[in-house]
Amino acid sequence: MISVSGLSFSYTKKPFITNMSFNVSKGEIFGFLGPSGAGKSTVQKILTGMLTSFTGNVSVLNTDIKHIEKSFYEKIGVDFEFSSLFEKMTARENLRFFSSLYSSPSADIEGLLKKVDLHKDADKKVSAFSKGMKSRLNFIKALVHDPDLIFLDEPTSGLDPSNAAVMKQLIIEQKNLGKTIILTTHNMYDASELCGRVAFIVDGSIKALDSPWNLMHKNTNFNVVYSWLENGEKKERTVPVTQTSSDEKLQSLIKQNALISIHSCEPNLNDVFAEITGRVLV
Ligand SMILES: Nc1ncnc2c1ncn2[C@@H]1O[C@H](COP(=O)(O)OP(=O)(O)O)[C@@H](O)[C@H]1O
Ligand SMILES: [Mg+2]
Repeated sequence: MISVSGLSFSYTKKPFITNMSFNVSKGEIFGFLGPSGAGKSTVQKILTGMLTSFTGNVSVLNTDIKHIEKSFYEKIGVDFEFSSLFEKMTARENLRFFSSLYSSPSADIEGLLKKVDLHKDADKKVSAFSKGMKSRLNFIKALVHDPDLIFLDEPTSGLDPSNAAVMKQLIIEQKNLGKTIILTTHNMYDASELCGRVAFIVDGSIKALDSPWNLMHKNTNFNVVYSWLENGEKKERTVPVTQTSSDEKLQSLIKQNALISIHSCEPNLNDVFAEITGRVLV
């Protein structure tokens, strides 16, 4: 779906995006995880043909991005980081307007509104919408022409946990329909819950690229902490994960079903990000 090699780009004379290479296959959710200012939105703008003064090779949907035609935009959907809706128009009017810009038959607008639970508010002006409602509308706006490839820039940013969960479910639904999704985020939960593969991006370059699981489990040097009761008192012990079979106390507690807790303390994606890049995700 996407093939990038030796991509470099800068807004100024100072190099920024440097020698980036990656491929994205059909049906993947591919993530860019990095702190604010890392270059995530810039890469998305290059992949969607909005910034063309780069060097290197960028091919999207088998087309050199420097030579795309209008029809390219019929096949991609973009949910920008900042809402791009007409506030004085209703939700339904926004969707009808944006879908009228495409020549391909539009997706089922009423179905999309229902899917994101906005059908009852579809005739309200967007200016009266909450942040969560705007995000959901902005998301389905990117789907009005039923694109194969979807770009989502910080789709859960600023959403409360329940709206973020709804958004994540919607993204998974699109993946299950066979769509390919490029997602940028600074949120490790989004990346680990949604992405098949994730690129760590800092200062315009990719520092690591793998599945969240592989990234989190490359380092097997972490501990297991378990606890049990002894004469009514809680006891706790820590053992390296690589030595659990030789830990007699742990083995005997398992045989007696006497553990009261057991936790493996493998690093989360934030920890791994900090270890690899020396930066924190904010
Ligand atoms: N149009 C622009 N002109 C000049 N600098 C820009 C422009 N857009 C973004 N930048 C700068 O490029 C860097 C990366 O921005 P961006 O790609 O938006 O990062 P991210 O999406 O990872 O937060 C930032 O330092 C930002 O200030
Ligand atoms: Mg951004």
